[in-house]
Amino acid sequence: MKKQKVFVYKCSSCGREEAKWLGRCPECGEWNTLVETAAHSENSARLRRNEALPQTLPLSTVDPMEGSRVGSGIGELDRVLGGGIMKRSAILVGGEPGIGKSTLLLQIAAAAQTKGRILYISGEESAGQLRLRADRLGISADKSRMERIEILCTGNLEEIETVLNNVKPVLVLVDSAQTLFSADGGSAPGGVSQMKFCSFELISWMKEHDAALFLTAHVTKEGLIAGPKTLEHMVDTVLYFEQNDKTSALSGTADCRFLRAAKNRFGSVDEIGIFTMGEQGLSPVEDTGRLFLVRREGELPPGVATAAVLEGTRTILVEIQALTIPAKGTMSRVFSDKIDSGRVSRVSAALEKHLGLRLSDQDLYVNAAGGIRITEVGAELALACALYSARTGLALPADMVIAGELSLTGEIRPVRRLSGRVKTAANLGFSSFLGPAAPDHRTGEGTMQETQPSPELRTAGDIKSAIKLIFGGNSLETRQREKTSK
Ligand code: TYD
Ligand code: MG
Repeated sequence: MKKQKVFVYKCSSCGREEAKWLGRCPECGEWNTLVETAAHSENSARLRRNEALPQTLPLSTVDPMEGSRVGSGIGELDRVLGGGIMKRSAILVGGEPGIGKSTLLLQIAAAAQTKGRILYISGEESAGQLRLRADRLGISADKSRMERIEILCTGNLEEIETVLNNVKPVLVLVDSAQTLFSADGGSAPGGVSQMKFCSFELISWMKEHDAALFLTAHVTKEGLIAGPKTLEHMVDTVLYFEQNDKTSALSGTADCRFLRAAKNRFGSVDEIGIFTMGEQGLSPVEDTGRLFLVRREGELPPGVATAAVLEGTRTILVEIQALTIPAKGTMSRVFSDKIDSGRVSRVSAALEKHLGLRLSDQDLYVNAAGGIRITEVGAELALACALYSARTGLALPADMVIAGELSLTGEIRPVRRLSGRVKTAANLGFSSFLGPAAPDHRTGEGTMQETQPSPELRTAGDIKSAIKLIFGGNSLETRQREKTSK
Protein backbone atom coordinates (compact mmCIF):
# COMPACT_ATOMS: atom_id res chain seq x y z
CA MET A 1 0.00 0.00 0.00
CA LYS A 2 1.35 3.37 -0.93
CA LYS A 3 1.70 5.60 2.07
CA GLN A 4 0.08 8.97 1.66
CA LYS A 5 2.18 11.99 2.26
CA VAL A 6 0.78 14.16 5.03
CA PHE A 7 1.03 17.91 4.90
CA VAL A 8 0.85 20.43 7.68
CA TYR A 9 1.03 24.20 7.74
CA LYS A 10 4.10 25.36 9.55
CA CYS A 11 4.77 28.88 10.75
CA SER A 12 8.05 30.11 9.32
CA SER A 13 8.45 32.45 12.25
CA CYS A 14 7.83 30.27 15.32
CA GLY A 15 7.55 26.74 13.97
CA ARG A 16 3.98 26.13 15.08
CA GLU A 17 2.20 23.46 13.11
CA GLU A 18 -1.47 23.65 12.17
CA ALA A 19 -3.64 21.12 10.37
CA LYS A 20 -5.17 23.80 8.16
CA TRP A 21 -3.99 27.09 6.72
CA LEU A 22 -4.55 30.19 8.79
CA GLY A 23 -3.87 33.81 7.90
CA ARG A 24 -2.34 34.52 11.27
CA CYS A 25 -0.23 32.24 13.42
CA PRO A 26 -2.05 31.63 16.73
CA GLU A 27 1.28 31.21 18.54
CA CYS A 28 3.36 34.22 17.53
CA GLY A 29 0.68 36.38 15.97
CA GLU A 30 2.58 36.91 12.67
CA TRP A 31 0.55 37.27 9.48
CA ASN A 32 0.99 35.12 6.36
CA THR A 33 3.74 32.96 7.82
CA LEU A 34 2.03 29.56 7.57
CA VAL A 35 3.44 27.51 4.69
CA GLU A 36 2.58 24.02 3.56
CA THR A 37 5.28 21.52 4.50
CA ALA A 38 5.49 17.74 4.53
CA ALA A 39 4.87 16.54 8.05
CA HIS A 40 7.58 14.46 9.58
CA SER A 41 7.57 13.30 13.15
CA GLU A 42 10.56 13.66 15.45
CA ASN A 43 10.83 9.89 15.32
CA SER A 44 11.24 9.70 11.58
CA ALA A 45 13.92 12.39 11.71
CA ARG A 46 15.88 10.22 14.11
CA LEU A 47 15.41 7.16 11.97
CA ARG A 48 16.77 9.02 9.00
CA ARG A 49 19.85 10.03 10.96
CA ASN A 50 20.47 6.51 12.23
CA GLU A 51 20.31 5.18 8.67
CA ALA A 52 19.71 1.69 10.02
CA LEU A 53 16.75 -0.34 8.85
CA PRO A 54 14.20 -0.76 11.60
CA GLN A 55 14.21 -4.30 12.95
CA THR A 56 11.61 -6.20 14.91
CA LEU A 57 12.64 -8.52 17.70
CA PRO A 58 10.85 -11.38 19.44
CA LEU A 59 9.25 -10.24 22.69
CA SER A 60 10.80 -13.21 24.46
CA THR A 61 14.30 -11.91 23.79
CA VAL A 62 13.63 -8.44 25.15
CA ASP A 63 15.61 -7.52 28.26
CA PRO A 64 13.02 -7.37 31.08
CA MET A 65 15.18 -4.71 32.75
CA GLU A 66 14.94 -6.52 36.04
CA GLY A 67 17.10 -5.06 38.73
CA SER A 68 17.45 -1.91 36.70
CA ARG A 69 16.27 0.31 39.49
CA VAL A 70 18.60 2.28 41.67
CA GLY A 71 17.64 3.95 44.90
CA SER A 72 17.40 7.72 44.69
CA GLY A 73 18.63 7.87 48.27
CA ILE A 74 15.41 9.68 49.19
CA GLY A 75 12.89 7.23 50.59
CA GLU A 76 9.82 9.30 49.84
CA LEU A 77 10.88 9.77 46.22
CA ASP A 78 11.54 6.04 45.78
CA ARG A 79 8.08 5.37 47.13
CA VAL A 80 6.47 7.60 44.49
CA LEU A 81 8.67 6.22 41.70
CA GLY A 82 7.66 2.66 42.60
CA GLY A 83 10.90 1.54 44.23
CA GLY A 84 13.67 3.67 42.81
CA ILE A 85 14.89 5.28 39.61
CA MET A 86 14.43 3.03 36.59
CA LYS A 87 17.35 2.86 34.18
CA ARG A 88 16.53 4.51 30.84
CA SER A 89 13.59 6.38 32.30
CA ALA A 90 12.76 10.04 31.95
CA ILE A 91 11.10 11.66 34.93
CA LEU A 92 9.43 15.03 34.77
CA VAL A 93 9.10 17.06 37.96
CA GLY A 94 6.50 19.80 37.63
CA GLY A 95 5.43 22.41 40.13
CA GLU A 96 5.03 26.08 40.83
CA PRO A 97 8.14 28.25 41.13
CA GLY A 98 9.57 28.09 44.64
CA ILE A 99 8.08 24.72 45.51
CA GLY A 100 11.50 23.04 45.69
CA LYS A 101 12.17 21.42 42.31
CA SER A 102 15.79 22.59 42.04
CA THR A 103 16.40 21.65 45.65
CA LEU A 104 15.01 18.17 45.07
CA LEU A 105 17.20 17.69 42.00
CA LEU A 106 20.35 18.69 43.83
CA GLN A 107 19.44 16.41 46.72
CA ILE A 108 18.95 13.54 44.27
CA ALA A 109 22.37 14.29 42.75
CA ALA A 110 23.88 14.01 46.20
CA ALA A 111 22.01 10.97 47.43
CA ALA A 112 21.40 8.76 44.37
CA GLN A 113 22.88 5.30 44.74
CA THR A 114 24.23 5.20 41.19
CA LYS A 115 27.77 4.13 40.43
CA GLY A 116 28.69 6.42 37.56
CA ARG A 117 28.91 10.16 37.09
CA ILE A 118 26.07 12.55 37.63
CA LEU A 119 25.49 15.59 35.49
CA TYR A 120 23.47 18.50 36.83
CA ILE A 121 22.50 20.92 34.08
CA SER A 122 21.13 24.26 35.15
CA GLY A 123 19.84 26.90 32.82
CA GLU A 124 18.35 28.81 35.72
CA GLU A 125 21.14 29.26 38.21
CA SER A 126 24.85 30.01 38.06
CA ALA A 127 27.50 27.58 39.28
CA GLY A 128 28.06 29.86 42.28
CA GLN A 129 24.42 29.73 43.25
CA LEU A 130 24.43 25.96 42.97
CA ARG A 131 27.47 25.76 45.20
CA LEU A 132 25.77 27.96 47.79
CA ARG A 133 22.75 25.71 47.71
CA ALA A 134 24.92 22.62 48.04
CA ASP A 135 26.59 24.17 51.08
CA ARG A 136 23.22 24.99 52.57
CA LEU A 137 22.01 21.44 52.01
CA GLY A 138 25.11 20.08 53.69
CA ILE A 139 26.17 18.14 50.59
CA SER A 140 29.57 19.82 50.38
CA ALA A 141 30.73 18.12 53.56
CA ASP A 142 30.72 14.75 51.82
CA LYS A 143 33.79 14.81 49.51
CA SER A 144 33.10 11.58 47.62
CA ARG A 145 29.57 12.65 46.81
CA MET A 146 30.62 16.13 45.72
CA GLU A 147 33.26 14.78 43.37
CA ARG A 148 30.94 12.71 41.26
CA ILE A 149 28.55 15.62 40.55
CA GLU A 150 29.42 17.58 37.41
CA ILE A 151 27.81 20.96 36.87
CA LEU A 152 26.92 22.54 33.55
CA CYS A 153 25.24 25.92 33.48
CA THR A 154 23.62 26.33 30.10
CA GLY A 155 20.39 25.75 28.28
CA ASN A 156 22.02 25.28 24.88
CA LEU A 157 21.21 21.82 23.58
CA GLU A 158 24.26 21.54 21.32
CA GLU A 159 26.58 22.31 24.26
CA ILE A 160 24.69 19.88 26.46
CA GLU A 161 24.94 17.09 23.89
CA THR A 162 28.67 17.60 23.50
CA VAL A 163 29.13 17.41 27.26
CA LEU A 164 26.87 14.36 27.54
CA ASN A 165 28.99 12.52 24.98
CA ASN A 166 32.17 13.41 26.85
CA VAL A 167 31.05 12.85 30.41
CA LYS A 168 28.76 9.85 29.75
CA PRO A 169 26.77 10.34 32.94
CA VAL A 170 24.43 7.68 34.31
CA LEU A 171 22.12 10.24 35.82
CA VAL A 172 21.24 13.54 34.22
CA LEU A 173 19.32 16.25 36.02
CA VAL A 174 18.02 19.15 33.95
CA ASP A 175 16.71 22.32 35.56
CA SER A 176 14.59 23.32 33.71
CA ALA A 177 12.99 22.23 30.44
CA GLN A 178 11.85 25.81 29.86
CA THR A 179 15.43 27.08 29.65
CA LEU A 180 16.47 24.63 26.92
CA PHE A 181 17.04 25.95 23.41
CA SER A 182 18.58 24.76 20.20
CA ALA A 183 19.46 26.20 16.81
CA ASP A 184 17.47 23.31 15.28
CA GLY A 185 14.44 23.89 17.49
CA GLY A 186 12.76 25.76 14.70
CA SER A 187 11.19 28.62 16.63
CA ALA A 188 11.91 31.47 19.00
CA PRO A 189 13.84 30.45 22.15
CA GLY A 190 11.63 29.92 25.15
CA GLY A 191 8.72 28.71 23.04
CA VAL A 192 6.87 25.49 23.53
CA SER A 193 8.26 23.88 20.39
CA GLN A 194 11.85 24.63 21.47
CA MET A 195 11.19 23.05 24.85
CA LYS A 196 9.59 19.99 23.29
CA PHE A 197 12.29 19.56 20.69
CA CYS A 198 15.17 19.85 23.17
CA SER A 199 13.51 17.62 25.78
CA PHE A 200 12.89 14.99 23.16
CA GLU A 201 16.53 15.07 22.04
CA LEU A 202 17.73 14.69 25.64
CA ILE A 203 15.32 11.82 26.30
CA SER A 204 16.55 10.03 23.17
CA TRP A 205 20.19 10.48 24.18
CA MET A 206 19.48 9.10 27.58
CA LYS A 207 17.57 6.05 26.30
CA GLU A 208 20.39 5.21 23.94
CA HIS A 209 23.01 5.53 26.64
CA ASP A 210 21.25 3.68 29.47
CA ALA A 211 21.10 6.70 31.71
CA ALA A 212 18.19 8.18 33.66
CA LEU A 213 16.90 11.70 33.32
CA PHE A 214 15.15 14.09 35.67
CA LEU A 215 13.68 17.16 34.07
CA THR A 216 11.94 20.01 35.86
CA ALA A 217 9.29 22.27 34.41
CA HIS A 218 7.40 25.04 36.12
CA VAL A 219 3.72 25.42 36.16
CA THR A 220 2.47 28.94 36.03
CA LYS A 221 -1.07 29.85 36.98
CA GLU A 222 -1.73 31.46 33.60
CA GLY A 223 0.32 29.25 31.31
CA LEU A 224 -0.51 25.66 32.15
CA ILE A 225 -0.40 24.85 28.44
CA ALA A 226 3.17 26.03 28.04
CA GLY A 227 4.36 24.11 31.07
CA PRO A 228 4.91 20.47 31.97
CA LYS A 229 1.65 19.30 30.41
CA THR A 230 3.15 19.57 26.93
CA LEU A 231 5.96 17.18 27.91
CA GLU A 232 3.88 14.57 29.71
CA HIS A 233 3.52 12.24 26.73
CA MET A 234 7.27 12.06 26.13
CA VAL A 235 8.40 10.98 29.56
CA ASP A 236 7.90 7.77 31.54
CA THR A 237 6.98 9.35 34.81
CA VAL A 238 5.39 12.66 35.69
CA LEU A 239 5.64 13.90 39.26
CA TYR A 240 3.92 17.01 40.52
CA PHE A 241 5.07 18.91 43.53
CA GLU A 242 2.23 20.54 45.46
CA GLN A 243 2.17 22.55 48.61
CA ASN A 244 -0.43 22.76 51.31
CA ASP A 245 -2.04 26.08 51.96
CA LYS A 246 0.24 27.72 54.50
CA THR A 247 -2.02 30.72 54.84
CA SER A 248 -5.01 28.63 55.77
CA ALA A 249 -6.01 29.30 59.35
CA LEU A 250 -7.85 26.01 59.58
CA SER A 251 -4.89 23.79 58.84
CA GLY A 252 -2.60 24.57 61.70
CA THR A 253 0.15 22.17 60.67
CA ALA A 254 3.65 22.50 59.31
CA ASP A 255 4.67 23.45 55.81
CA CYS A 256 4.19 20.22 53.83
CA ARG A 257 5.01 19.46 50.23
CA PHE A 258 3.46 16.54 48.45
CA LEU A 259 5.04 14.74 45.54
CA ARG A 260 2.40 12.94 43.49
CA ALA A 261 2.77 10.82 40.38
CA ALA A 262 0.43 11.87 37.59
CA LYS A 263 1.80 9.19 35.28
CA ASN A 264 4.11 6.31 36.03
CA ARG A 265 5.09 3.63 33.56
CA PHE A 266 7.00 1.78 36.27
CA GLY A 267 4.76 1.97 39.30
CA SER A 268 1.46 3.04 40.73
CA VAL A 269 0.15 6.57 40.72
CA ASP A 270 -1.47 6.21 44.14
CA GLU A 271 1.60 6.82 46.23
CA ILE A 272 2.51 10.23 47.50
CA GLY A 273 5.76 11.46 48.93
CA ILE A 274 5.54 13.90 51.81
CA PHE A 275 8.31 16.39 52.52
CA THR A 276 8.85 19.42 54.67
CA MET A 277 11.13 22.26 53.58
CA GLY A 278 13.51 23.23 56.30
CA GLU A 279 16.79 25.09 56.73
CA GLN A 280 18.63 22.18 55.13
CA GLY A 281 16.38 21.55 52.18
CA LEU A 282 13.65 18.97 51.83
CA SER A 283 13.30 16.30 54.44
CA PRO A 284 11.06 13.29 54.01
CA VAL A 285 8.22 12.81 56.44
CA GLU A 286 7.94 9.11 56.99
CA ASP A 287 6.00 9.23 60.20
CA THR A 288 2.80 10.81 58.98
CA GLY A 289 0.81 9.77 62.05
CA ARG A 290 -0.11 13.15 63.49
CA LEU A 291 0.68 15.31 60.49
CA PHE A 292 -2.94 15.77 59.45
CA LEU A 293 -4.45 16.01 62.87
CA VAL A 294 -4.86 19.20 64.84
CA ARG A 295 -3.49 19.23 68.36
CA ARG A 296 -6.22 20.13 70.82
CA GLU A 297 -7.00 19.78 74.49
CA GLY A 298 -10.29 18.18 75.42
CA GLU A 299 -13.45 18.35 73.34
CA LEU A 300 -13.67 18.68 69.57
CA PRO A 301 -15.47 21.70 68.17
CA PRO A 302 -18.54 20.90 66.06
CA GLY A 303 -17.86 20.23 62.37
CA VAL A 304 -14.75 18.12 62.89
CA ALA A 305 -14.31 14.37 62.29
CA THR A 306 -11.20 12.18 62.10
CA ALA A 307 -11.00 9.92 59.06
CA ALA A 308 -8.69 6.98 58.46
CA VAL A 309 -7.82 7.12 54.74
CA LEU A 310 -5.44 5.24 52.49
CA GLU A 311 -2.74 7.05 50.57
CA GLY A 312 -1.09 4.39 48.46
CA THR A 313 0.35 1.82 50.81
CA ARG A 314 0.07 3.87 53.95
CA THR A 315 -2.83 4.80 56.16
CA ILE A 316 -3.12 8.31 57.43
CA LEU A 317 -5.48 9.90 59.89
CA VAL A 318 -6.89 13.19 58.70
CA GLU A 319 -9.06 15.70 60.43
CA ILE A 320 -11.93 16.69 58.14
CA GLN A 321 -13.43 20.08 58.89
CA ALA A 322 -16.83 21.30 57.76
CA LEU A 323 -18.71 24.54 58.13
CA THR A 324 -22.25 25.29 57.04
CA ILE A 325 -23.81 28.71 56.85
CA PRO A 326 -27.10 29.83 55.30
CA ALA A 327 -26.57 30.32 51.57
CA LYS A 328 -25.83 33.88 50.56
CA GLY A 329 -27.29 33.52 47.11
CA THR A 330 -30.36 31.76 45.82
CA MET A 331 -28.14 28.81 44.98
CA SER A 332 -26.23 27.07 47.74
CA ARG A 333 -22.58 26.48 47.00
CA VAL A 334 -19.83 24.06 47.98
CA PHE A 335 -16.35 25.40 48.73
CA SER A 336 -14.01 22.45 48.95
CA ASP A 337 -10.67 22.02 47.24
CA LYS A 338 -9.20 19.24 49.35
CA ILE A 339 -12.12 16.89 48.80
CA ASP A 340 -13.78 16.91 45.39
CA SER A 341 -16.80 19.22 45.66
CA GLY A 342 -18.93 16.77 43.66
CA ARG A 343 -18.34 14.24 46.40
CA VAL A 344 -19.26 16.78 49.10
CA SER A 345 -22.52 17.53 47.25
CA ARG A 346 -23.30 13.84 46.95
CA VAL A 347 -22.67 13.13 50.64
CA SER A 348 -24.75 16.14 51.69
CA ALA A 349 -27.59 15.03 49.42
CA ALA A 350 -27.51 11.59 51.06
CA LEU A 351 -27.62 13.23 54.51
CA GLU A 352 -30.55 15.39 53.51
CA LYS A 353 -32.46 12.47 52.04
CA HIS A 354 -31.85 9.84 54.70
CA LEU A 355 -31.72 11.97 57.85
CA GLY A 356 -33.95 14.83 56.83
CA LEU A 357 -31.07 17.20 57.64
CA ARG A 358 -31.52 20.33 55.58
CA LEU A 359 -28.29 21.20 53.79
CA SER A 360 -29.54 22.37 50.41
CA ASP A 361 -30.13 25.91 51.71
CA GLN A 362 -26.60 26.10 53.13
CA ASP A 363 -23.22 27.06 51.75
CA LEU A 364 -20.84 24.21 52.61
CA TYR A 365 -17.16 24.71 53.35
CA VAL A 366 -14.97 21.63 53.67
CA ASN A 367 -11.28 21.39 54.43
CA ALA A 368 -8.71 18.77 55.43
CA ALA A 369 -6.13 19.57 58.11
CA GLY A 370 -2.57 19.77 56.87
CA GLY A 371 -3.82 20.70 53.42
CA ILE A 372 -3.77 17.17 52.05
CA ARG A 373 -6.02 16.39 49.09
CA ILE A 374 -8.28 13.40 49.83
CA THR A 375 -9.50 11.24 46.99
CA GLU A 376 -10.17 7.97 48.78
CA VAL A 377 -13.80 6.82 49.17
CA GLY A 378 -13.14 5.59 52.71
CA ALA A 379 -13.30 9.22 53.89
CA GLU A 380 -16.97 9.63 52.98
CA LEU A 381 -18.49 8.52 56.28
CA ALA A 382 -16.22 10.88 58.21
CA LEU A 383 -17.15 13.66 55.81
CA ALA A 384 -20.84 12.93 56.41
CA CYS A 385 -20.30 13.03 60.18
CA ALA A 386 -18.38 16.32 59.93
CA LEU A 387 -21.17 17.88 57.85
CA TYR A 388 -23.83 16.59 60.25
CA SER A 389 -21.87 17.90 63.20
CA ALA A 390 -21.36 21.31 61.57
CA ARG A 391 -25.04 21.69 60.75
CA THR A 392 -26.36 20.55 64.13
CA GLY A 393 -23.66 22.03 66.34
CA LEU A 394 -23.19 18.66 68.05
CA ALA A 395 -19.52 17.69 68.43
CA LEU A 396 -18.09 14.24 67.76
CA PRO A 397 -16.18 12.39 70.47
CA ALA A 398 -12.51 13.39 70.29
CA ASP A 399 -11.23 9.84 70.57
CA MET A 400 -13.09 8.45 67.54
CA VAL A 401 -11.69 7.53 64.12
CA ILE A 402 -14.07 6.86 61.22
CA ALA A 403 -13.80 4.95 57.93
CA GLY A 404 -16.48 3.94 55.46
CA GLU A 405 -17.89 4.64 52.05
CA LEU A 406 -21.35 6.19 51.90
CA SER A 407 -23.64 5.07 49.10
CA LEU A 408 -26.48 7.16 47.72
CA THR A 409 -28.91 4.81 49.43
CA GLY A 410 -27.48 5.78 52.80
CA GLU A 411 -25.73 2.45 53.34
CA ILE A 412 -22.19 2.32 54.63
CA ARG A 413 -20.07 0.24 52.31
CA PRO A 414 -16.97 -1.75 53.31
CA VAL A 415 -13.58 -0.24 52.65
CA ARG A 416 -10.25 -1.74 51.68
CA ARG A 417 -7.67 -2.65 54.31
CA LEU A 418 -9.83 -1.88 57.32
CA SER A 419 -7.45 -3.68 59.65
CA GLY A 420 -4.61 -1.36 58.69
CA ARG A 421 -6.77 1.64 59.42
CA VAL A 422 -7.79 0.29 62.82
CA LYS A 423 -4.16 -0.42 63.63
CA THR A 424 -3.08 3.12 62.75
CA ALA A 425 -5.85 4.52 64.96
CA ALA A 426 -4.73 2.22 67.79
CA ASN A 427 -1.10 3.24 67.42
CA LEU A 428 -2.03 6.87 67.75
CA GLY A 429 -4.03 6.22 70.89
CA PHE A 430 -7.58 6.60 69.61
CA SER A 431 -9.98 4.58 71.70
CA SER A 432 -12.91 4.06 69.34
CA PHE A 433 -13.25 3.25 65.67
CA LEU A 434 -16.43 3.51 63.64
CA GLY A 435 -16.52 1.36 60.53
CA PRO A 436 -18.92 -0.38 58.16
CA ALA A 437 -21.04 -3.25 59.45
CA ALA A 438 -20.76 -5.29 56.26
CA PRO A 439 -18.03 -7.99 56.15
CA ASP A 440 -14.40 -7.20 55.50
CA HIS A 441 -13.67 -7.22 59.21
CA ARG A 442 -12.44 -10.79 58.97
CA THR A 443 -8.89 -9.55 59.00
CA GLY A 444 -9.71 -6.44 60.99
CA GLU A 445 -10.79 -8.33 64.06
CA GLY A 446 -7.62 -10.40 64.14
CA THR A 447 -5.49 -7.31 64.10
CA MET A 448 -7.63 -5.67 66.73
CA GLN A 449 -6.73 -8.31 69.27
CA GLU A 450 -3.05 -8.04 68.50
CA THR A 451 -2.82 -4.31 69.00
CA GLN A 452 -2.71 -3.15 72.57
CA PRO A 453 -4.61 -1.19 73.64
CA SER A 454 -7.05 -1.77 70.81
CA PRO A 455 -9.79 0.72 70.04
CA GLU A 456 -13.37 -0.27 70.58
CA LEU A 457 -14.69 -1.23 67.14
CA ARG A 458 -18.19 -0.01 66.44
CA THR A 459 -20.05 -0.72 63.28
CA ALA A 460 -22.98 0.78 61.45
CA GLY A 461 -24.78 -0.47 58.36
CA ASP A 462 -26.26 2.84 57.32
CA ILE A 463 -25.83 6.53 57.95
CA LYS A 464 -28.85 6.75 60.25
CA SER A 465 -27.49 4.18 62.67
CA ALA A 466 -24.01 5.72 62.45
CA ILE A 467 -25.37 9.11 63.49
CA LYS A 468 -27.42 7.52 66.30
CA LEU A 469 -24.36 5.68 67.48
CA ILE A 470 -22.21 8.80 67.61
CA PHE A 471 -24.59 11.47 68.79
CA GLY A 472 -27.05 9.41 70.80
CA GLY A 473 -30.51 8.11 70.00
CA ASN A 474 -32.43 11.33 70.33
CA SER A 475 -30.18 13.59 68.27
CA LEU A 476 -32.26 12.96 65.15
CA GLU A 477 -35.54 13.62 66.93
CA THR A 478 -34.11 16.80 68.45
CA ARG A 479 -33.26 18.00 64.96
CA GLN A 480 -36.74 17.26 63.74
CA ARG A 481 -38.25 19.21 66.64
CA GLU A 482 -35.96 22.18 66.06
CA LYS A 483 -36.92 22.19 62.42
CA THR A 484 -40.63 22.25 63.07
CA SER A 485 -40.36 24.92 65.77
CA LYS A 486 -38.48 27.29 63.38
P1 TYD B 1 13.72 25.85 44.82
O1 TYD B 1 14.25 24.48 44.84
O2 TYD B 1 14.58 26.91 44.24
O3 TYD B 1 12.31 25.90 44.06
P2 TYD B 1 11.98 25.73 42.49
O4 TYD B 1 13.18 25.21 41.82
O5 TYD B 1 10.82 24.78 42.48
O6 TYD B 1 11.58 27.06 42.01
O7 TYD B 1 13.35 26.18 46.34
C1 TYD B 1 12.57 27.21 46.64
C2 TYD B 1 12.36 27.61 48.06
O8 TYD B 1 12.84 26.76 49.05
C3 TYD B 1 13.02 28.93 48.23
O9 TYD B 1 12.00 29.85 48.55
C4 TYD B 1 13.96 28.76 49.35
C5 TYD B 1 13.51 27.53 50.04
N1 TYD B 1 14.58 26.75 50.64
C6 TYD B 1 14.55 26.47 51.99
O10 TYD B 1 13.64 26.88 52.72
N2 TYD B 1 15.55 25.70 52.53
C7 TYD B 1 16.57 25.23 51.79
O11 TYD B 1 17.47 24.55 52.33
C8 TYD B 1 16.59 25.52 50.39
C9 TYD B 1 17.72 25.04 49.53
C10 TYD B 1 15.59 26.29 49.85
MG1 MG C 1 14.30 26.17 40.37
